[in-house]
Amino acid sequence: MSAVVVISDLVVSYRMADADVFALDGVDFTITQGERVGIVGESGSGKSTLGMAIGRLLAPNARFMRGDIRLGGQSILSCSATELRQVRRDRLGFVYQNPMSALDPTMRVGRQVALALRGVPSAAAIQALLSRVGLPEPARAAASFPHELSGGMAQRVVIALAIARDPVVLVADEPTASLDASIQGVILDLLASLRDSTGASLVILSHDLRMVAKRCERLVVMYGGRIVESGPSQQVFHEPRHPYTRALIKAAAGNEGPDDRLEPIPGVPPVLHGESRNCAYVDRCEFAQALCHQKRPEVQVVDGRAITCHFALSGLVRSTPAQVTPP
Ligand SMILES: Nc1ncnc2c1ncn2[C@@H]1O[C@H](COP(=O)(O)OP(=O)(O)OP(=O)(O)O)[C@@H](O)[C@H]1O
Ligand SMILES: [Mg+2]
Repeated sequence: MSAVVVISDLVVSYRMADADVFALDGVDFTITQGERVGIVGESGSGKSTLGMAIGRLLAPNARFMRGDIRLGGQSILSCSATELRQVRRDRLGFVYQNPMSALDPTMRVGRQVALALRGVPSAAAIQALLSRVGLPEPARAAASFPHELSGGMAQRVVIALAIARDPVVLVADEPTASLDASIQGVILDLLASLRDSTGASLVILSHDLRMVAKRCERLVVMYGGRIVESGPSQQVFHEPRHPYTRALIKAAAGNEGPDDRLEPIPGVPPVLHGESRNCAYVDRCEFAQALCHQKRPEVQVVDGRAITCHFALSGLVRSTPAQVTPP
């Protein structure tokens, strides 16, 4: 499958009065046509920065320090403001955490959909799009103001706006975080099903590893502004190779021990003020060795999986910490 987005060596920092925060620390990430990718990691790992960078939709204090983002060969970082507007409108779709803040509260849904579609769409075309995202009474939804809809219905409208122009990539940032638990799976299923009807690649950014692993072919795990593991979801979920992935899975709902408790990851994620010179996970890693403190790990590709760990080839996470031997 061909690559639709190619991100190479991306370093993004946020300017702060005291010390700048580095949110992405050398990310290489390719999205192929029609694939569904889930990006997971704890809060602050850089998921939103990576997802929003695709549309150059970062906060005003963000700085692209290095690297590039190419969409179908076009550089997103060096295109003009006009080109960028076109790219955002015609080739990318974004779905955010809170649908109510993504919709214009003063405009009826139908009008917002009309503005998102090309040309001057008919009422039938507007309603057809609302039906595609599973709104049962599209005429009624079109005549409503956002506050008249439930959270789940409003998120369906946001998804309709995002797919109105048949984007090549749809980026959903915690698309179910503000919704009732009962509707979360349904909205994720809707997003996952759109790949088949639109052909668009789907990128879901989420805390919920299990929910995302179920619906995406590929799982990407971020930590400290880097991708630490990437590979086929089932493999990553059932046989994690990076110590952080393993810890994240053990800490995920659904993996409670016999005493009904989850095993939280001790410590807190780092806040980086520069590019890291060692492994960012070193202080929390149960397998850490001297090398991990001294040297920045490079990405290693093993069995179709990319793992950013000095010990990726050593079978480290399948052993107990005492058994680990340096590579
Ligand atoms: N506008 C900003 N100004 C300063 N720092 C920021 C800004 N936005 C994000 N950051 C910092 O950049 C890092 C990465 O943040 P980001 O929002 O990309 O993470 P995330 O994985 O999406 O987290 P969450 O799960 O909480 O949404 C964090 O340390 C965060 O505090
Ligand atoms: Mg986020």
